[in-house]
Amino acid sequence: MMLRFCVTRELRRQLCRPEVGHQASRTKRHTRLGAIYLPRIRRKRSALHGWGVFALEDMNKNKRIITYDGEKITSKESEDREDRYLRRGEIWCFRVTRRSVIDANVNGNVARFINHACKPNCYSNIIDHKIWIIAGRNIKAGEELTYDYHTDGDKEIVCRCRPGCTNRL
Ligand SMILES: C[S@@+](CC[C@H](N)C(=O)[O-])C[C@H]1O[C@@H](n2cnc3c(N)ncnc32)[C@H](O)[C@@H]1O
Ligand SMILES: [Zn+2]
Repeated sequence: MMLRFCVTRELRRQLCRPEVGHQASRTKRHTRLGAIYLPRIRRKRSALHGWGVFALEDMNKNKRIITYDGEKITSKESEDREDRYLRRGEIWCFRVTRRSVIDANVNGNVARFINHACKPNCYSNIIDHKIWIIAGRNIKAGEELTYDYHTDGDKEIVCRCRPGCTNRL
């Protein structure tokens, strides 16, 4: 079974390492169209769930924030991993195309800490074969970043994006 996003036990271990996952100073990213500056963000404890990622500066709608990094694997490889991960109840993978998936368990960055919301302030988009997390509206410094995971798995996780949300991830 294919999910669109996944968390493994190894990833959970990485999530607990405090030095992981900061983009607290301004970083530059080279793209086909030249260098773009990425806004400052930081991993912090979230009221929504565990760790979350928060804006450290205001950002405009459609600002590219961060790429969702990890190991690129085939859908076939992902199926095998997901079966293994799902038995531990912690599998989340991000599908890029019909054939390729990013497994943030391997070489993931701070983007893996971004929580889901049903009415998020960010969205994901594939640009030049990279998954980008992009501001869906103007975002103020201090706001938690969220995007819709669009999961298509077993929907076992009760969504806590807002009081009374009845959706499942
Ligand atoms: C990539 S992690 C995000 C970081 C996560 N908060 C953590 O500390 O591990 C995805 C996991 O966060 C949890 N999560 C994210 N958004 C959620 C939400 N809206 N409601 C409930 N759990 C959520 C789920 O357990 C999911 O497996
Ligand atoms: Zn929700």
